[in-house]
Amino acid sequence: MASQVLVAANRGPLSYALAEDGTLSARRGGGGLVSGLSTALAEQPDALWICAALSDADREAVRRGVAEPGVRMLDIDPTMYDDAYNGIANSVLWFTHHHLYDIPREPVFDAGFRRQWESYERYNQAFAQALAEEAGQGAQVLVQDYHLALVPGLLRVLRPDLRIAHFTHTPWAAPGYLAMLPDTVRETLLWGMLGADVLGFHTEAWAAEFLGSARLDDAWGRSEVRDGPVVEHRRYAVWPTRTTHVRAYPLGVDGDELRALAHRPAVNAKLAELRAEVDGLRTIVRVDRTELSKNILRGLLAYRELLTGRPQWRGRVVHLASAYPSRQDLAVYRDYTAAVAELAAEINAEFGTEDWQPVLVSVKDDFERSLAAYRLADVALVNPVRDGMNLVAKEIPVVSEAGCVLVLSTGAGAYEELRQDALTVNPYDVTATADALHAALAMPVGERAERTKRLAAAATSLPPTAWFRAQLSALGPSSPAGV
Ligand code: G6P
Repeated sequence: MASQVLVAANRGPLSYALAEDGTLSARRGGGGLVSGLSTALAEQPDALWICAALSDADREAVRRGVAEPGVRMLDIDPTMYDDAYNGIANSVLWFTHHHLYDIPREPVFDAGFRRQWESYERYNQAFAQALAEEAGQGAQVLVQDYHLALVPGLLRVLRPDLRIAHFTHTPWAAPGYLAMLPDTVRETLLWGMLGADVLGFHTEAWAAEFLGSARLDDAWGRSEVRDGPVVEHRRYAVWPTRTTHVRAYPLGVDGDELRALAHRPAVNAKLAELRAEVDGLRTIVRVDRTELSKNILRGLLAYRELLTGRPQWRGRVVHLASAYPSRQDLAVYRDYTAAVAELAAEINAEFGTEDWQPVLVSVKDDFERSLAAYRLADVALVNPVRDGMNLVAKEIPVVSEAGCVLVLSTGAGAYEELRQDALTVNPYDVTATADALHAALAMPVGERAERTKRLAAAATSLPPTAWFRAQLSALGPSSPAGV
């Protein structure tokens, strides 16, 4: 049956496991995008989620015709997928939007890159094709993230009747940074995005970067853009004049749901374990995918500077860093993961004593342990160089028991809403970060609690369900008669 609400995202809400006896079982997938969307979709029982088959077990499920209701997995050729996901999405677009290139050496846009870009186009085409097949007349389609930036444009060509939104969970690159991409690639990217009726970003800042990029193209006479939050795009004859609305929808957390999760027996048990480990010490907590944009190394350097410059904290504080591996197919991520472990070990060797270990690194993606750490945290360190939103900054104040001081970088999307009650730092300034950690540890309990209350209120102002509904309503009701 054709669907009236469709979501497309690289990662789906579930993944399959293949047992030795050949049976397949479905498991719920992880990650912020997946959990936010899953919550939002719970109230859209007829929605369809189109995603890529990510593993051999997923591909096997597609081949055997095994499917869960509401989910369609696409069996993408593994080489094409590797080029599109590792090559373009995570090595080029991720690095561009997060400004992560090491400019003297990278990027290099050569023939290999162009081959990968073609795969990225075909991977986007596969999603557009599947959406075109599954969508009912005039349906609402919500496309997610940088993996699928071309889908709105491609889908509009196939199905002009659909209402299409695209949401970017990352930052958008500053126009000058985006200009590093080869002209045809950058134009195609903007063309793809501008195929949407509504373009959503987590912050006004990222929406403004997008509009700046579209204007830059305008300067080259390739599209027409006028001031304000509206882009008019007249590049393609298929739709001579249409309007793309560019807006911020700052995703928040569902306070009640999160507090309930954080008080389940399994989390209580982890909390008891953690309490025994930290044994009355003050805690500085961080939880990240081990990811270059999260700036874990400078966070550790700041902690080292704190212990060096303010020796009164030695033996009284512990840094609980949960840094679980991510995208380990890419060498740059593997190297970064190793560098984090090495620096933590150095700090432990430099300051540790028989009965005090200054840094405890956990590399397991263990949400229950993270929730326990949130409850226990005196200080939360969220210092990304550039981050679409960073939901950890929003989750900790909601779950924290005694009030927790948030040290937050200006590069996090969450900075736009949380800046007033966090201690804010320039993510590159290690000394300022060390000073903020000191101020956070020294903050009076009453002030800490007051700030935490206000942070929690801001963090829960647009929970996933309302965030999703706001985008659906910006698209207008799905109408069987089409647009
Ligand atoms: C970011 C992206 C998401 C992605 C997540 C995990 O938050 O915006 O789209 O799902 O990272 O990355 P992964 O590569 O593991 O899906």
